[in-house]
Amino acid sequence: MTATNRDTYTDPKRILGSRVVEFHDIIGQPTAKREIQQLSEFFKHRDMLGLYGISIPNVLLHGPPGTGKTMLVESLAYELLGDPTSLDIIVYSLNLQDIGTAYINETSNNLSDYIDSICEDLCTRDTLNHAIIFMDEFDSIAGKRGTRHSHTEDDKVVNTLNSYLDGDRYLPNINYIAATNNYNLVDPALKSRFGLHLKFDPFKTTSDKSSVLKSSHTQLERRSDPAYTEYLFNRVSEIGFDTVVTTYLKDLPLSGRDLMSIARHAVEHRITELITTNTQQISVCTDDYKYSAEQFVTQHNKSSKQNRQMGFRK
Ligand SMILES: Nc1ncnc2c1ncn2[C@@H]1O[C@H](COP(=O)(O)OP(=O)(O)OP(=O)(O)O)[C@@H](O)[C@H]1O
Ligand SMILES: [Mg+2]
Repeated sequence: MTATNRDTYTDPKRILGSRVVEFHDIIGQPTAKREIQQLSEFFKHRDMLGLYGISIPNVLLHGPPGTGKTMLVESLAYELLGDPTSLDIIVYSLNLQDIGTAYINETSNNLSDYIDSICEDLCTRDTLNHAIIFMDEFDSIAGKRGTRHSHTEDDKVVNTLNSYLDGDRYLPNINYIAATNNYNLVDPALKSRFGLHLKFDPFKTTSDKSSVLKSSHTQLERRSDPAYTEYLFNRVSEIGFDTVVTTYLKDLPLSGRDLMSIARHAVEHRITELITTNTQQISVCTDDYKYSAEQFVTQHNKSSKQNRQMGFRK
């Protein structure tokens, strides 16, 4: 068997790529997906690009919550870490909300410590010569400088990030990918340091929603214990995802996260039925999805009503 990076690096907190997420699992988002797939080839052949003086751009992903930004980076990491020809590249995940701290003057230092520790990895690990740093929830510490809401420490953080992105404080072989759902809040000077900006859109069509539901089902199948997979998930092709979406979810604005939660509840519903009743139906079926979608719509309508009432009281 050929060794891959996945065998060498397994720390789930810092390194992406151990979870199976493939490019074809990402539904919709054609431009973002195409560009990231191309980037993955660039990373694999970065020595050749270097010979032509071409550098790989930093990337800023933006769009509403639950549209696949993090998932797309996970699929890039999975692709790279599983590729025997790119053993020397690794994707670190840095959640900027975790780096932020209540103590004044610490966020910027935390950020520097973290990125410096990656530089150290690059210098000391023989097998490693390139790193991609994925900065999720980017706007949480990358807000506009000098605004009414920004504080001195926030400004310092933006300056620190700028200097890393400019390459003043790093080894040449680091690329950055950032993700935000508040594109307008990100400091313009920081934005300008990302060569590629990729927009993610909410899922509007019935066919997109149905495909995301199916993709979510497949992801749950992969994550489940193989002993149960055989029973619980062996009738996927018989599940009427289209019918479920057309009947219950057609007119709702749904994120991928919403659809994943509907899929999860459908599976949970089947497990509950198995435990509590004498059912002969072992694998997850259309009825589980109908049940879950109906519950979701009821819950959605309830919270919309509550929101409207709160708006009315104001
Ligand atoms: N394009 C997509 N294709 C398939 N599944 C998706 C897609 N987008 C989201 N999902 C599902 O929704 C879950 C959450 O998506 P993800 O975390 O990638 O969203 P995000 O855009 O990073 O959101 P946030 O802005 O809140 O961080 C995924 O794990 C997946 O199950
Ligand atoms: Mg995300």
